[in-house]
Amino acid sequence: METLTVGLLGCGTVGSGVVRLLREHGDDIAARLGARLVLGPVAVRDPGKHRDVDLPLVTDDPRKVVADPDVDIVVEVLGGLEPARSLVLEALEAGKHVVTANKVVMANAGPELAAAARAGGARLEYEAAVAGGVPVIKPMRESLAGDRVRKVLGILNGTTNYILTRMTDDGLPFPAALAEAQRLGYAEADPTADVEGHDAAAKAAILASIAFDARVTPADVHTEGIARITPTDIAHARRMGFVVKLLAIAEEDGGEVTVRVHPALVPHEHPLANVRDAYNAVFVTGDAAGSLMFYGRGAGSLPTASAVVGDVVTVARALLAGERARSRPASEVHTMPAPTLPVRRVRPFETTSVQSYVLLDVVDAPGVLASVAATFGEHAVSIRTVWQEGAGETAQLLLITHAAREGDVRATLADLRALDTVRAVASVIRVEGAEV
Ligand code: NAP
Ligand code: HSE
Repeated sequence: METLTVGLLGCGTVGSGVVRLLREHGDDIAARLGARLVLGPVAVRDPGKHRDVDLPLVTDDPRKVVADPDVDIVVEVLGGLEPARSLVLEALEAGKHVVTANKVVMANAGPELAAAARAGGARLEYEAAVAGGVPVIKPMRESLAGDRVRKVLGILNGTTNYILTRMTDDGLPFPAALAEAQRLGYAEADPTADVEGHDAAAKAAILASIAFDARVTPADVHTEGIARITPTDIAHARRMGFVVKLLAIAEEDGGEVTVRVHPALVPHEHPLANVRDAYNAVFVTGDAAGSLMFYGRGAGSLPTASAVVGDVVTVARALLAGERARSRPASEVHTMPAPTLPVRRVRPFETTSVQSYVLLDVVDAPGVLASVAATFGEHAVSIRTVWQEGAGETAQLLLITHAAREGDVRATLADLRALDTVRAVASVIRVEGAEV
């Protein structure tokens, strides 16, 4: 039986899962493929480190893997932008097919790498870069290629979804829920990228680029994290029929695109409201297909390795069908024209229409509600729901707006903060999933 050799860059959480699947599912894959996938050289930072899997050939020089003439497919699971981006580029230029799980590389350098792949007739697959083990990249790129996607709503970060689930179910404050996520190994020792929304923003940029044939980078994504969400917000949300989720939202509007990551109130009856714990989900609305949801484990060794090895099989099938990549010098690769894409402008968030939940600490006195309502009206922001609870001389005033321009909502909040009767704008959370 023909063999194809897989060179591995990185053997941490995901890489060790890839090694296990290549071994444990090797016979099944060989039967499906008509060829055997064998593990070639593996690059790690510390070759002396104890690992759960046996590695035949270990090196601390990833360039040896990329340049090895026996390697047919390079799998990049190092993480971070560099040296991963340069190594993927070198592999493509050397005429190798590449599979990566790296959202940072694909979100920041996807078009450059895709151009290098096209130039040499190489494959570049990255299913695991968004939502880990959940197949969403291939369905969006291939299965929905005949449709027109209008909106993508995603729960793309398992750590924050776990934290919000514990805050909702057990009333934990944010710091305690974060500590629990770290104890269970969901959150990194430095959880900033998860908690501040940057991890979800990189994934949102990748999904939006595919959904709308646009060039979206993480810098284009309006990004807010969950650190300011309080048990009070969650209790108010529950009473009004919502749960709080960190959503990635990409939508097409009048030929332009907006992409944002922020906490959102989602109606209880929306399918995303029931995506709990560390699970991920992507809810896509297309003109022809209607609504679709992709759901599963967005992280973890074997779920993520499942997506990576699936990509390796895709690439192996192409190789066996005769799709041999050619080695191309860098100078030539960079002059290759990109296929023309409809240029869709990425619109600033301020111009997008959103519903908002606003929680105000106000003085409980005659005329206060009227002055607050007037301030919303002055900025053409229409109020959908008002709820007030007095507590002596002060009160909490909770409002949900109809859909209004984000910029107008911000101008309203600035004026509210200047009112003597408004002690604080305690929370502002957008509402998504339906006009309610
Ligand atoms: P990880 O556990 O930190 O493993 C990284 C591996 O790369 C380690 O084996 C490390 O070597 C090696 N490495 C790092 N820099 C290197 C360098 N300069 N030269 C040689 N080796 C180097 O990371 P991971 O969690 O497996 O994540 C890998 C990628 O998959 C990332 O892009 C991540 O975003 C993506 N991903 C991860 C998950 C997940 O659940 N973990 C889910 C989806 C996508 P040592 O072992 O010697 O330190
Ligand atoms: N830190 C990520 C998460 C891992 O919590 O979802 C997968 O990218």
